Amino acid sequence: MNIILLGPPGAGKGTQAQRLEERRGMRQLSTGDMLRAAVKAGTPVGLEAKAVMERGELVSDEIVSKLIDAELAAMGEGAGAIFDGYPRTEAQARSLDGILALHGRTLDHVIELEVNEDALVERITGRFTCANCGAGYHDVFKQPAVAGVCDKCGSAEFKRRPDDNEETVRTRMAEYRAKTAPILPVYEARGIVHRIDGMADIDAVSEAIAEILAS
Ligand code: AP5
Ligand code: MG
Ligand code: ZN
Repeated sequence: MNIILLGPPGAGKGTQAQRLEERRGMRQLSTGDMLRAAVKAGTPVGLEAKAVMERGELVSDEIVSKLIDAELAAMGEGAGAIFDGYPRTEAQARSLDGILALHGRTLDHVIELEVNEDALVERITGRFTCANCGAGYHDVFKQPAVAGVCDKCGSAEFKRRPDDNEETVRTRMAEYRAKTAPILPVYEARGIVHRIDGMADIDAVSEAIAEILAS
């Protein structure tokens, strides 16, 4: 099974993708995570992407589609893919069709997390992750069981994203509205779009996704 999780910044794509990895053995393919890893490693892609990401704008279609293609090639067959934050433009959606065909995969569901933009700023400015294992947390909505210690790996080191400030978040939302939301009709025409309430609590969103995957 291969699915796209779609939604504006802070909608909960990464949170739900991590749960699907744990519970269903699927693989999260987050272009945002791949780009952040490239920035950290100082690769040519990272050097090109860094400033664009800090402004909250979109990195070039060619770069992200290459990253996705390489990840799918490395994955081989077997595990289902969760596309998190990709595709984000009409050109990327077309590339994904070609890439999937190349790897002998088909797209089963596109799940759109519907959210209220005002609440997203609070979600994003409160977000932090484990610096060691990447587990995601929130100052208010998802604190570690023991304060200052990662639930998953016990690390005491956490980090915040440089693009998680209010100004950049507003740009990221505008990019979503202008460039990403318009790709939905393509998938609607194929009858594979599901809309769920992304404002519900994290468990309720996971349940709604589980129902779609079981359908
Ligand atoms: P990316 O990393 O994809 O960021 P994004 O799309 O802005 O989405 P986020 O990761 O911010 O949100 P999320 O939906 O994953 O939310 P999360 O689960 O963490 O992209 C970053 C940048 O990279 C882009 O701006 C662009 O520059 C570039 N880029 C990436 N992909 C690209 C592409 N394909 N093309 C071009 N450029 C690309 O949740 C947020 C917080 O809320 C967490 O703290 C979480 O604990 C909490 N939370 C989650 N769900 C709930 C809930 N139901 N209730 C309460 N709290 C919740
Ligand atoms: Mg994310
Ligand atoms: Zn950890």
